[in-house]
Amino acid sequence: METRKTEDQKIERERMKEEAGRAAADALVKSGMKLGLGTGSTAIHVIRRVGELLAAGKLSGLRAFPTSFQSEMECERLGIPVYGLNSRELGGSLDLCIDGADEIDPENRLIKGGGGALLVEKLAAYASASYAIVADEAKLVPHLGTGFPLPLEVLPEARLSVSRALEKLGALVVLREALRKAGPVVTEHGNLLLDIRFREPVDPVFMETELNKIAGVVENGFFTRLRPVVYIAREEGSVEVRK
Ligand code: A5P
Repeated sequence: METRKTEDQKIERERMKEEAGRAAADALVKSGMKLGLGTGSTAIHVIRRVGELLAAGKLSGLRAFPTSFQSEMECERLGIPVYGLNSRELGGSLDLCIDGADEIDPENRLIKGGGGALLVEKLAAYASASYAIVADEAKLVPHLGTGFPLPLEVLPEARLSVSRALEKLGALVVLREALRKAGPVVTEHGNLLLDIRFREPVDPVFMETELNKIAGVVENGFFTRLRPVVYIAREEGSVEVRK
């Protein structure tokens, strides 16, 4: 009985992710755009909808920049043209980036990186003229960083020194372990991930800058410098657009 309920909840959550992804792709993606495509179980629905619109001839001339192997492989499967951010076609900038998030506060500031792709996701977000987030309503929180742990990508050599510096800032630190490999998760850039929790709410704007000052931190999962438009799928079936 309990298993059935959990299964139903999973299906419902998946439906919400799909609705948010499709709504954002339909409203925001235009032909000819340089488009950043995020990572994760919600952002993948944006990619799938973009693939559908391309295949139906409703979009053309897109130049996509996927933020991980996951999104790159899905683009390849669907025939979405993919380019490097430094390519002549993209020239280091994007028109629009659409991604998922792990937590969203009332000011549309974010925690990202649950899927381990925060480094390139931040690069894409901050290189983009506009930014949109797709999520189900479970991602909405009053304060960032006390529920879902904040991920930090760190150089392998700096694992212990960074952990100590974070503990001094009052954080609880956990090295992210791989699920089907012995030892830690190794990111697509050869680094490790530390998942940290603060006992008390912190100022995410200050912390986004402050954490990157620790030698060996490559990037952290606070995304506070943009105010994305957020497509939030509600349980009752609607998708709210929050600016
Ligand atoms: C990937 O590193 C993350 O930033 C994802 O965008 C985030 O974890 C949301 O993922 P889901 O849509 O799978 O919850």
